[in-house]
Amino acid sequence: MDFYGERSYWNRNRSNRVVIIGAGMVGSTYAYALLISGLVSEIIVIDLNEERLMGEVMDLNHGVPFVRPVIVRAGDYGDCRDADLVVITAGAAQKVGETRLDLVHRNVLIFQDIVPKVVASGTHAPILVATNPVDVMTYVTLKLSGLPKDKVIGSGTVLDTARFRYLLSEHCQISPVNVHAYILGEHGDSEVPIWSLANIAGLRFTEYCPVCGKNCGPLAKEEIFEEVKNAAYKIIKGKGATYYAIGLGLVRITESILRNEYSVLTVSSLLEGEHGIYDVCLSIPTVVARDGIKKRIMLNLSPEEERKLKNSADVIKRVLREIKF
Ligand code: LAC
Repeated sequence: MDFYGERSYWNRNRSNRVVIIGAGMVGSTYAYALLISGLVSEIIVIDLNEERLMGEVMDLNHGVPFVRPVIVRAGDYGDCRDADLVVITAGAAQKVGETRLDLVHRNVLIFQDIVPKVVASGTHAPILVATNPVDVMTYVTLKLSGLPKDKVIGSGTVLDTARFRYLLSEHCQISPVNVHAYILGEHGDSEVPIWSLANIAGLRFTEYCPVCGKNCGPLAKEEIFEEVKNAAYKIIKGKGATYYAIGLGLVRITESILRNEYSVLTVSSLLEGEHGIYDVCLSIPTVVARDGIKKRIMLNLSPEEERKLKNSADVIKRVLREIKF
């Protein structure tokens, strides 16, 4: 008898197999973070570049003696069959001067090869998409796979929400643990900061200002959001790519799935009427558990936030029309 329903203890501790498609910077950093997390019993990596794949798998395996036992190996699409989660990180990465949307044509071609092979394995696992532009690629995966909408999840604005919380925590000198604030919409230039519901230690952001005592003006909010929105451009200019934070963000989503946590995360998924938005993937607060998405949560946004969220949906839809999806 499963006394706790789906969120039973057993679900939390069964052996877990994750297949990662793409051994580039994001895929290999995610694999490394997953190795350290203790969340999984087996990590299988797939990549066209066999030499790179062998190097990554060897390097990860040589670290196994330092962490809890886990199998790390190169695999093929047949390994997706018994996976508990399939994560797609493969694709061209953003370069200096490129937006995430600029990658779309190259990455759609790559997904037209990858996704049918994942589906052909007969897997019942959720698919987590990290490849940019992630909202478009999540929608493309949904259409190419024919899977139920709650089985296809994009990393969405999980990373942007983390950046937002980090920068607010720095600004207000409060631990990020006590900062609740979301970035919704596109993981990209049209993303939306939800200031109206941001709260610090249980106080709305504006109510916390007197407590903080810094008396910063209205510009502070704009500066914080600009830093969130433009973070990736700055990091790519500095070190050529981003991978640590997105790798950890993917582990956080993986954790909610494999541990059947029912955590609320701003992942990207198909909206069918939420906020009056239809037939597009973008991020709103979403309950994530072992078999994928359990619920999408509609927040009471301000009229301006609603408008910006709809604009974000339109930006993504324009790209979907351009690629004829
Ligand atoms: C970033 C990449 C993951 O925002 O889009 O760092």
